[in-house]
Amino acid sequence: MPHHPQDPTTASGVAPQNAVAVITVDGTSGSGKSALAKELAKALSFCHLNSGLLYRMVAAEVADKIDDDLEGCLEFLRNATVEYRPDQHVVFGGQDITDLTHSPRTDRMTPAVAKIPAVREIVRGWQNKIVRDWGDSVVEGRDIGTVVFPNAQVKIYLEADIEKRAEWRHLQRQKKGIEESLENIRKALEERDRMDIERPESGLRPAPDAHILDASHRTQDEVLEEALRIVHETLKK
Ligand code: DC
Repeated sequence: MPHHPQDPTTASGVAPQNAVAVITVDGTSGSGKSALAKELAKALSFCHLNSGLLYRMVAAEVADKIDDDLEGCLEFLRNATVEYRPDQHVVFGGQDITDLTHSPRTDRMTPAVAKIPAVREIVRGWQNKIVRDWGDSVVEGRDIGTVVFPNAQVKIYLEADIEKRAEWRHLQRQKKGIEESLENIRKALEERDRMDIERPESGLRPAPDAHILDASHRTQDEVLEEALRIVHETLKK
């Protein structure tokens, strides 16, 4: 059941003979991981896997039932056909449920399912399969460089001050016409950080060999530029 980082068939989580390159982008909520991972993938012609979307998908499917019937839910997930499309759409049991994964309800319920070790094991299996099928990928999340792809070629850990993250998210929401106070957004991010960091299984932390990139005082273009510099430097070695 546990992940086997030493297993020679899963050197970076994928078969080494295929020489699949994996770049991991981990970090706190709202630090700009998704924007960076997307642009990095585009610049390098890699695929982009957002692991948070997989946890959101699980929450959208089973959050209601998981407290009462954990085993039944796990069985349901293990037997499900899951498709993650390169256009960032997720299909569960043949149904595109992407919209559901972004609902405020799913937002609230995802941390509770993401902390269940057996759920993480299932999602880890999906991530390995997706990257094996896709080839070179940028994978973003919380535990990608530490647990899912511990031998990834390049690991980036993106962080930013809580004030900046709250400001960015506030602006994002305003652009979408959603009114929420800066204070509420900040509190929600602090709570997210707490849940991510204190999660006993795969808690958020930088891998020892991760490059830490602070986005607080950089534009998105500057973050991308620095990340590309790190990638090129590291792959050259
Ligand atoms: O990145 P995001 O906000 O879409 O993540 C949604 C949730 O999933 C959030 O509660 C953190 C959790 N998550 C996780 O536990 N491990 C990951 N690798 C990615 C996300």
